[in-house]
Amino acid sequence: MSSIRTAVFPVAGLGTRFLPATKAIAKEMLTVVDKPLIQYATEEAVAAGMENLVFIVGRTKNAIIDHYDKAYELETELGLRNKTELLKVVKEVVPPHIHCVFIRQSEALGLGHAVLCAEPAVTDQPFAVILPDDLIYNNGGPSCIQQMVDVYEQQQGSVIGTQTVAMEESDKYGMVAGPRIDERISRVDEIIEKPDPSEAPSDQAVVGRYILTPAIFDKLKTTGRGAGNEIQLTDAIAELRKTEEIYAYSFEGRRYDCGSKIGYLEANVEIALQHEEMADAFRQYLKALPLD
Ligand code: UTP
Repeated sequence: MSSIRTAVFPVAGLGTRFLPATKAIAKEMLTVVDKPLIQYATEEAVAAGMENLVFIVGRTKNAIIDHYDKAYELETELGLRNKTELLKVVKEVVPPHIHCVFIRQSEALGLGHAVLCAEPAVTDQPFAVILPDDLIYNNGGPSCIQQMVDVYEQQQGSVIGTQTVAMEESDKYGMVAGPRIDERISRVDEIIEKPDPSEAPSDQAVVGRYILTPAIFDKLKTTGRGAGNEIQLTDAIAELRKTEEIYAYSFEGRRYDCGSKIGYLEANVEIALQHEEMADAFRQYLKALPLD
């Protein structure tokens, strides 16, 4: 049984980089090939043994709530038409042992504030935070969050997913630094949100996967507004680091930044090329495409 039972999905951001697509629907409902981003994230959590899925939703997020609800009419229609495979696809969105909780973040005050909104549903246990717009694909190997659960079990401390980025991109990420413990694990001695490249402590960027101890909530309660005038999770982690060891984990897998248009397009192309139904036809299409 996994030691991490709860996953939090902060999906209350405004998604301004995808306007007008995100005017009325959440960025996390944008599809990569045939599944919304949020479903890649929940499947990753469920495969890693998590049973309680906590969604922090905003005003335009009703489609997310509907996606995780029973679809009576659709299921009845598919049943009547003997579309058993499709019925299975629809029902599998929420396996029977999974509990979904939806909490409204009434103002988009930042990722840190969104995570704080999850406190009543998380209680006093370590938990995962998964940002669905970071889609991470590990080609048949253990998922990113599964790898991080393993690190949590080994180190018994909060774990942050990290990736090497070009130094000039440091102002888009939380950046961490600290001594290496083994090939992929380091201790976090420094963590700063969106530093200027001249002030970045290393080239290790925080991406959208965290395992946090519940002590983070008290830190979040006293975290003021930081970069971008938002309540930043990174700033609360920097406070937590003063009282608990925190580990950075350089995960195995390919990350697509689906919060950006180019990352989203890359994910669609590369995942279509792996898709059992689409791969052959799509590869042929790409080969025939005049690229100049
Ligand atoms: P982003 O920094 O990608 O912001 O949030 P955003 O609002 O979603 O998108 P842009 O930059 O305007 O295009 C990172 C994650 O934190 C969540 C987002 O939903 C996303 O999963 N978030 C952010 C919240 O849940 N609440 C917030 O107040 C801010």
